[in-house]
Amino acid sequence: MPFFGTVGQGLVGFRSRFSMLKERIIGRTREPNMRRILSGMQPTGFLHLGNYLGALKSWVAMQGTGACFYAVMDLNAITIPQPPDELRRATRRTAALYLAAGVDPAKSTLFVQSAVPDHTALTWILATQTPLGWLNRMTQYKDKTAGHRDRERLGLFAYPVLMAADILVYKATHVPVGEDQKQHLELTRDIAGAFNRAFSREVFPLPEPMIQTEAARIMSLRDGTKKMSKSDTSDYARINLTDDADTIALKIRKAKTDADPLPGEVKGLEGRPEADNLVTIYAALAGTTRAEVLRTRAGTSFSTFKKDLTDLLVVHLGPLTARLNELESDPAQIDSILHAGAEKAREETQKTMREVRDVIGLYG
Ligand code: AMP
Ligand code: TRP
Repeated sequence: MPFFGTVGQGLVGFRSRFSMLKERIIGRTREPNMRRILSGMQPTGFLHLGNYLGALKSWVAMQGTGACFYAVMDLNAITIPQPPDELRRATRRTAALYLAAGVDPAKSTLFVQSAVPDHTALTWILATQTPLGWLNRMTQYKDKTAGHRDRERLGLFAYPVLMAADILVYKATHVPVGEDQKQHLELTRDIAGAFNRAFSREVFPLPEPMIQTEAARIMSLRDGTKKMSKSDTSDYARINLTDDADTIALKIRKAKTDADPLPGEVKGLEGRPEADNLVTIYAALAGTTRAEVLRTRAGTSFSTFKKDLTDLLVVHLGPLTARLNELESDPAQIDSILHAGAEKAREETQKTMREVRDVIGLYG
């Protein structure tokens, strides 16, 4: 009876041995120094080039560097009303896009957020540790409610706490996202720290945001000072990941630029946001830097550069679109991948929740 003690030992001895056993069980379930990577997107609107270069591409590259969890964040999406049928369709389509972009279910756990109830269970617990002042600082809430008083709801306000739970329920150590999510990641670290301090236990690691440097912000093709966004009313502002070669060529041809050719160095892009954006896209697709693109292409006119950019886009997005069409013709296959992924994810979250419940003193 190595853990439970023997008859005659005091109750205190029994208790501490019992909690040792519990810690061993919890501790045994995870490899201590392994990177744990989590990210996700909301199933709303179109997924576009910004999503691919700012996030998806690095998700794929990170497979094999740690335990990867990639989710379709449908509970975040409903913080703004979504037509139910459209939400269902978009959820499957978003999962299909992850797969088409190269997320491999043999290497990563791919699932839908709402199929793993512990995300919301942990949200409540973290909400009890989150000062309102921290949420008041979130710029995304202000952006999303500006001019929309009807959107001022608790769910949208608490969105960053749900996001913290999405990350912490897997004890994720690394979170690859675009720059616009940085503030949410900082809040997640603050909440994790607050929880650990409140209960004097290092339950949650402080997750590192992993933000692409070259493709952190892909801008609109119509206005280089605005982010490329799924909610832009003009379809010419973005390259959708479902656009075919002709559409891509047309959108790039129509993309706003200025009259000057490409400069020789990055400094020459200052005050030229549209030119900068096209060079950024080119560099991100080619897996190089803007400096390197400019070094080799200085003096090239934008009409020539746009043709080369179109070719590069088609080479990258063509196979993705083809694979997407293939996947979308077989929804049962996507469903079975998501089903298996949710089951794996639930096993992970249950481990964390067991520990969290114990630390807090929740009954049972
Ligand atoms: P969203 O489309 O806002 O749900 O974002 C999904 C992911 O794509 C997040 O990691 C974003 O940071 C990233 N993302 C969205 N738009 C862009 C953009 N224009 N440039 C770079 N990354 C982006
Ligand atoms: N807020 C993210 C976005 O709009 C989506 C998201 C929800 C997310 N939960 C997350 C991203 C957890 C990374 C980790 O893109």
